[in-house]
Amino acid sequence: MISLFSPVFYVDECLNGIKECLQKGWTGPGEKMAEFEEKWAEYTGYPYTVFLNSATAGLELSFKSMKELYGWQDNDEIITTPLTFVSTNHAILSAGLNAVFADVNDTLCLDPESVKDKITKRTKAVIFVGIGGNSGDLEEIAELCRKSGLKLLVDAAHMSGTKIKGIHMEELVDIAIYSFQSTKVLSTADAGMVCCNDKEIAKKIRIKAWVGMDKTRTPWSDDNTQRWYFDVVDLGGSYFGNDIMASIALAQFAHLDSDVKMRHEIADKYFQNLKECDRIKYIRVPQNCYSAQWLFQIVVPERDALIAFLESRDIYAGLHYLDNTQYRLYHYARETCPNADFYSKNAVSLPFHLRLTDEDIKMVSESVIEFYGEEKC
Ligand SMILES: Cc1ncc(COP(=O)(O)O)c(C=O)c1O
Repeated sequence: MISLFSPVFYVDECLNGIKECLQKGWTGPGEKMAEFEEKWAEYTGYPYTVFLNSATAGLELSFKSMKELYGWQDNDEIITTPLTFVSTNHAILSAGLNAVFADVNDTLCLDPESVKDKITKRTKAVIFVGIGGNSGDLEEIAELCRKSGLKLLVDAAHMSGTKIKGIHMEELVDIAIYSFQSTKVLSTADAGMVCCNDKEIAKKIRIKAWVGMDKTRTPWSDDNTQRWYFDVVDLGGSYFGNDIMASIALAQFAHLDSDVKMRHEIADKYFQNLKECDRIKYIRVPQNCYSAQWLFQIVVPERDALIAFLESRDIYAGLHYLDNTQYRLYHYARETCPNADFYSKNAVSLPFHLRLTDEDIKMVSESVIEFYGEEKC
C-alpha cells in the first residue's frame, strides 16, 4: 500500500524531550512551549508567537481577537478562498463575520484580481491560504491590502518551511497561523501556532486560549505576581498547546529545512517520471516562492476515475480541497468561483511523504501513465 501521507518522526529526539517532561512532572504549557515559541519567532521573523492545540484554534482566536480589538462589527466581511480546509472559513463565521469568497488562480491560491472585485465598504480583512506550501500571489495581495487599509491573515497550515525569497512573511502579513497537525510538514500529533506583529492581539489570544484568565500558571506569563488572584477578563476556552507537543515540535523543527529539501527531491522525481504525459498540468509556483511542498498536486481529466484506479492498485491519492461553496453551510456562494470549482473537480494530490522510495514513486507514476494510456500521454 502506498499512502497519501506517512509522517516521519525523529523518534529518539522526540522521546528525549517527552521523557524530560515526564521526569520533571510537567506536561502542560511550560518551558518547552516557551522554547518552541521563541524558536518559531526567530525562524519566521514575527515578534509574537502563541503555541496552541491546533491551527483551527489559532484561526478562530485570531478572528475573534481582531474583531474585538479593531472594533469590527457583526457581519463585517472577510475575503477568503473556497479552496481550503473548512477550518479557515468556519473561523470567520464563528467570530460573527461574513465569509466572502473570491476565486483562486493557477496557483490554487487567491487570485488578486478576484480579491479586488470583492472589496466593499464592509471588508475588514483578507485571509490567504498557501495551498501545499505555495505562497502564490501573496505579494500582490499584500500590496492590495495595504492600499485598501485591510488586514491580511495567512492560513499557513501547509507553509512550515515555505520561504518567500528575500521577504519575511511578517513584512507582508499581519497574522500567520501554522498547523503542526500529524500529517503536516512539521508533524506533532496536534498543534498550531499564531504568529503576529501586534502585541495586543498576541496577548488577547493568550488570554482567550486559557478561559479568559489574565494570568496563567506558567513561567513565561507577563505578570506572575500573586497569580492566584487572577481575573477573568474575556470569554475564552481551553486552546493552549502543551509541553509534550512542544517537545515533539522542537525535535521535528531541527529537521524542518532538510525535510523540505527532501520533499523537493521527491517532487523532482515525480516531475521527471511524468514529464512525457501531457494530459497532466501542474500548479504554478511563482519564482519568488520556495514552497514547503506539503503536497504534490497535478491537474488531470477524469480525476475521480484516476483516484479509483490508483486505489485498485493500493495507491491512495487525495483531494485538496473540495470547493467549500459546495458544502451546505456555504451554499450561499455556490457557482461564484469557477476556477475553484474547476480545480476542485480536476486536481489530485499524489502520495507524498518522506517514506516514499524511488520504487514507490515509479509505481505511482507508472500507474498514472497507465490510466491515461501511453498513447494518450
Ligand atoms: C488549510 C488548512 N487550514 C487549517 C487546518 C486546520 O489545522 P489543524 O488540524 O491544526 O486544526 C488545516 C488542516 O488540515 C488545513 O489544511
